Amino acid sequence: MKKINAVITGVGAYLPDYILTNEELSSMVDTSDEWIMTRVGIKERRILKGEGKGASDLGAEAVKDLLKKTGTSKEDIDLVICTTVTPDHMFPGTSAIICDKVGIHNIQSFDMNAACSGFLYGLDTACKYVQSGSHKKVIVVSAEKMSSITDYTDRTTCVLFGDAATAVLIEPTEEEIGIRDTILRSNGIGRHHLVMKAGGSVKPASHETVDAKEHVVYQEGQAVFKHAVSNMADVAVEIMEKNNLESDEVTWLVPHQANLRIIDATARRMGIRKDQVMINIEKYGNTTSATIPLCLYEWEKQLKKGDNIVLAAFGAGFTWGSVYLKWGYDSK
Ligand code: UT7
Repeated sequence: MKKINAVITGVGAYLPDYILTNEELSSMVDTSDEWIMTRVGIKERRILKGEGKGASDLGAEAVKDLLKKTGTSKEDIDLVICTTVTPDHMFPGTSAIICDKVGIHNIQSFDMNAACSGFLYGLDTACKYVQSGSHKKVIVVSAEKMSSITDYTDRTTCVLFGDAATAVLIEPTEEEIGIRDTILRSNGIGRHHLVMKAGGSVKPASHETVDAKEHVVYQEGQAVFKHAVSNMADVAVEIMEKNNLESDEVTWLVPHQANLRIIDATARRMGIRKDQVMINIEKYGNTTSATIPLCLYEWEKQLKKGDNIVLAAFGAGFTWGSVYLKWGYDSK
């Protein structure tokens, strides 16, 4: 029997209309376009407006886009994995809510939280289901309403994040394409540096936690930066070496979009040129687990079957990792 490989066969996305610019942020907190562009590389980010709207509303639109683009019937989907740090609720899972909003019922679905590395963890999991032969059409939907956990009076974090959702379809193939290798890591030693302090079981919501603004992103930027630069670059180089990939054989590096300086450092360590790197942080900021598939979505038309693509991410936890894949199709 031939080995089953797992391959991405389509990418969908949804970006809310509202654009929050550096100019608008400069009127809200003591910041400037110059600081944000030189220290991070972001010009604008999208924000989901509207009472009662959550990550599932973003995710459902991304899944609908994916089904339409790929001509896939919703009845054929057999697993939906939702990666998010901004679930609609602590429970039930956002994956089930997305399925309901799309009209997919009675299939397997679950949420995963690996923060900014969430897409890599979701992709790896989807891949294993597909490779086992048990599932044929798996969706990884990455849905992040970061604006719901961002403190817009804190200049050190509010300039960084944006809202977005993406959805990718993963299917089996006997061709030598698709996900070739994955390295995933985590180390809870970093948990205090990037965290939402309250609202979980350790510190349930109370008047005190609300007053102390503990239901928003808390980040010690420099500590996270230091770990992100070394770990993301290390793991990307490791996957290249493991798979005998020379720098000029990497068609694209698709890095998590948290800070342009982290992206540049990773590319430098891999020995690749700037034109081999997908970068769209300027337009969307850090959309947590959606950044990598959002790049694939935007670059899809330029991708060719067989392209060597290295994905790399670092996030809260800490979690980090890298995936090496061969792209599965030429754009229609
Ligand atoms: O996606 C998950 C993983 N997350 C990351 O990878 C993020 C990693 N960290 C970073 O990207 C960077 O650390 C930040 C972008 C968050 C911050 O950049 P930084 O160069 O590390 O700045 P800093 O925290 O060292 O702050 C430098 C100065 C401080 O002022 P003083 O103390 O030197 O007077 C800050 O108060 O910049 C100030 N500052 C700002 N000034 C204008 C911080 N935020 C702002 C701001 N506008 N928005």
